[in-house]
Amino acid sequence: MQFEISIEGPFRAISRLNGKLDSFSPVMKRIPMRGYENREKGRIIIVASSEDILDQELSVISGIVTETERALSLDPGFDIRVRNLAYSEPSAGSSQFAEPFNPIPSITIQPWGPELALTTDPKTIIIDPHHAFGTGKHPSTLLCLTIMNLIAKDTSQASNIKGCKVLDFGCGTGLLAIAAIKMGAETAMGVEIDAQAARAAKNNVGLNRLSQRVDIREGSWEVVNGKFDLVLANLVASVLLRTGKLIPGHLTPSGAAVISGFGENQARDMKSFFEEQGLTVTRQFTHKGWSAFTMNIK
Ligand SMILES: C[S@@+](CC[C@H](N)C(=O)[O-])C[C@H]1O[C@@H](n2cnc3c(N)ncnc32)[C@H](O)[C@@H]1O
Repeated sequence: MQFEISIEGPFRAISRLNGKLDSFSPVMKRIPMRGYENREKGRIIIVASSEDILDQELSVISGIVTETERALSLDPGFDIRVRNLAYSEPSAGSSQFAEPFNPIPSITIQPWGPELALTTDPKTIIIDPHHAFGTGKHPSTLLCLTIMNLIAKDTSQASNIKGCKVLDFGCGTGLLAIAAIKMGAETAMGVEIDAQAARAAKNNVGLNRLSQRVDIREGSWEVVNGKFDLVLANLVASVLLRTGKLIPGHLTPSGAAVISGFGENQARDMKSFFEEQGLTVTRQFTHKGWSAFTMNIK
């Protein structure tokens, strides 16, 4: 698996940071360039070709980034993101994402086409991914949908989806937030750090006529307020480890969290991490080498 670490910040600060990131192993590349969305911004992309290197390098890089932020009194600081390049999906308009399909029996995902009318059908979700992740084809998304469906059907659960407030942290196209409403949630909030993906999610919410019930916000935890009955987070392992600490604080006492996006081989570390944060792993699910957990507050 290859991982991409991307660091973005003011162009001058990025140039300074670039000078400090000289000593990395040859498996990593640095490509300083001007950000294409904001001319004032620069971006460094480093590719790590294995997960062992990723964890080690990420901690060194984070240290250098923090040191540079302090030296330059940067506020806000650099934005670091990690993307698992194995997380690729069929692109919008490709033959693999052209036909409606049923990731789970109760939901049909309909790829957007200009000939389509907007839908309020309780089973159908229209998705136009643009460049965002979340068509429903990836095993990590499929795991989330499968678990949500189980929770929705299990009336013995304190935190059933019906009437719930749901958070989709790292919402990509907004698919899980929209699916939550189709499964009976009252409202959903989708949070997405990538501006293009957040725009795609807002557009998808509109295509499904759910703007009154699904609130898409661009950003990360800083844009989240309140507590949720169900928190969904399908994120790469290293991002789950960096951002997962804040999940318990945003759960209602009887709430549940679903995390996905890590490999079966990472499940043990993931379980220890989340148990340290005060959560109990109630079930583990796996599909095609990917894993997901359901968790409650201890
Ligand atoms: C694997 S995709 C999941 C998309 C969708 N929820 C699904 O299950 O298919 C993860 C998404 O999380 C976003 N992301 C990564 N780090 C984030 C953070 N700190 N805060 C919010 N979103 C983040 C990424 O941009 C990406 O769109």
